[in-house]
Amino acid sequence: MKTLLNDDEIAASLAERLDRVAARFAGQLKSDLTPVNALARHVERYRGKMLRPTLVIISGWAVREGEPADEAIDARLDTLAAVVEMIHMATLVHDDVLDEAEMRRGGQTVNSLKGNETAVMLGDFLIASAFHLCSSIGLPWLNGALGETTTQLCSGEILQLTHRGDLKLAQATYADIIRRKTGVLSGACCGLAARLAHADASTTTLLERYGEDLGMAFQIQDDILDLVGDERVVGKTLGIDLQKGKLTLPIVIHLSRATPSIREETVTAIADCDRATLLRLVAGTDSLVAARTEAMRFVESAKGNLTPIRESAAKRLLSSIADATVERSY
Ligand code: FPP
Ligand code: MG
Repeated sequence: MKTLLNDDEIAASLAERLDRVAARFAGQLKSDLTPVNALARHVERYRGKMLRPTLVIISGWAVREGEPADEAIDARLDTLAAVVEMIHMATLVHDDVLDEAEMRRGGQTVNSLKGNETAVMLGDFLIASAFHLCSSIGLPWLNGALGETTTQLCSGEILQLTHRGDLKLAQATYADIIRRKTGVLSGACCGLAARLAHADASTTTLLERYGEDLGMAFQIQDDILDLVGDERVVGKTLGIDLQKGKLTLPIVIHLSRATPSIREETVTAIADCDRATLLRLVAGTDSLVAARTEAMRFVESAKGNLTPIRESAAKRLLSSIADATVERSY
């Protein structure tokens, strides 16, 4: 029987599981072709916080804490964790093409190093590999659920594209975009892990909702960092969301509050990618504070979903991950 009681023990167990996930990830991408292996190694350098695999593993623990160890369940969870990370990597590689981003996680993006054609193909290779790996679990419902998740993710990106440069973007539409492009995948990490760990329907739904709310908070914090972050700390090119006409939450709120003349100044600052002026303008309408408040609202909602779930070290960890999402500066 494995019961995770203290923080040191849980941290060590998590590190061990994430190593297994990393090995599964690398194993799936191994090819008989040297250039494919070189690209796969580059993607491994992209690996950052491993938030999604962490959500899979800890959600599994939250369901199973106190139950007898089950290697078959753990193996499935490790594979799911590698699959969601691979889907996430595929989306980032493609996102950097769309954004013409040069830096990601402190290194050069694939598109800036090797060009768009290679980056698009690498993204395709990763998404195909993710579903190939997922099918090794042998559960058609899981492939179906992840197919639906990935479809939602792409729909979110398409919705975002159709609203490019839309200075009247409603906050509700913004919320719909980020729920699809970010929330749905982190919701799936927790909900599908719960199902693999044989949670009951209500716990599965609660964990899925926790993950979705966490993803919303995460994306809003990402938006805030795009405006106020330090590139050296965040490790990626900042300011491009706006340059590319993607309106981030602080700007959406700001534009809805601004007078016509401030609006005009804002539009010029966005076009010039003048972050200093934008920051000053956004501060004038208190919109950065409003965006932070909205992110906090999602954190509280995420944690609220955990309330009915029985107490465990894993549940406490999920709660602290939610707090950390908006406290991060990277
Ligand atoms: C990050 O947004 C991007 C996403 C969360 C999703 C991107 C998805 C696609 C491009 C669709 C590709 C789909 C497949 C199946 C390969 P961001 O630009 O706000 O975040 P960033 O600051 O990290 O770049
Ligand atoms: Mg981007």
